[in-house]
Amino acid sequence: MIKKCLFPVAGYGTRFLPATKAMPKEMLPVVNKPLVQYGVEESIEAGLIDIGMVTGRGKRAIADHFDMNYELEHQISGSAKEEYLTSIRNVMHKADFSFTRQVEMRGLGDAILNGKRLIGDEPFGVVLSDDLCLTNGEDEGVMAQMVKLYKQFRCSIVAIQEVPDDLIHKFGVIDGEQIKDGLYQVNNMVEKPALEDAPSNLAIIGRYILTPDIFDIIEDTPPGKNGEVQITDALMTQAKNGCVLAYKFKGRRFDCGSVEGFVEATNYVFENIYQAG
Ligand code: UTP
Repeated sequence: MIKKCLFPVAGYGTRFLPATKAMPKEMLPVVNKPLVQYGVEESIEAGLIDIGMVTGRGKRAIADHFDMNYELEHQISGSAKEEYLTSIRNVMHKADFSFTRQVEMRGLGDAILNGKRLIGDEPFGVVLSDDLCLTNGEDEGVMAQMVKLYKQFRCSIVAIQEVPDDLIHKFGVIDGEQIKDGLYQVNNMVEKPALEDAPSNLAIIGRYILTPDIFDIIEDTPPGKNGEVQITDALMTQAKNGCVLAYKFKGRRFDCGSVEGFVEATNYVFENIYQAG
């Protein structure tokens, strides 16, 4: 019923320069796995196995990562090192990948609109892989939690978390009516508000489920904050016309687009996942 997931990976990653000058931000490794692979694994766990990537210039390494490297396969096949390929082989076996390009970096809304040709007329997930979302062993991944909700409510859903006052200006922020524990019907959204204009402390993070009418809405959405086509503005139109839900997910999110968040994620994954085996 919902099988596709879009990964907008075209952004410049300026906060991580110079590391991201010639290397995609999404290929930065948290311990030994690139950020984008964590996102794809979360998507596969949710049953979204049709992966569409919206790439741009300088992002070829992402496509190569999910493609066969025959020389490497040949080199380490049958050796003790072969186990290092297990996780990426699993991903390649379970999911299908398609790629399209965003020619001009005109914002997240525009990147998602570029994915229209990969998605068609179906509901779909969106993962911003620089937001690394991890759950403890008991909870399902964040996208799987959201797919469950989608099956029940059949409308667009954004993942949210509470953020402190000094960080609120970095996020899209919602105002909503709580319809059940941790689930809100959105009635207002503001992109990167000053603290005094923020309607709440509930900030949108990089996980969405979108219904396909969002594409027409984005086409009619003019550039907003920072001159970029903002997905938040399009979602606001969708919320006015129908329904958008905001879900306070179970788990932790690390902003791996920032150096601080990336280091925090690295320490967390090393201690809780890598060392724990
Ligand atoms: P960010 O806001 O993190 O922007 O984008 P960025 O360019 O990647 O990073 P900074 O701020 O310059 O350091 C959020 C997500 O949206 C994608 C990015 O790749 C990232 O996954 N994106 C953003 C696009 O694909 N295209 C765009 O035009 C903008």
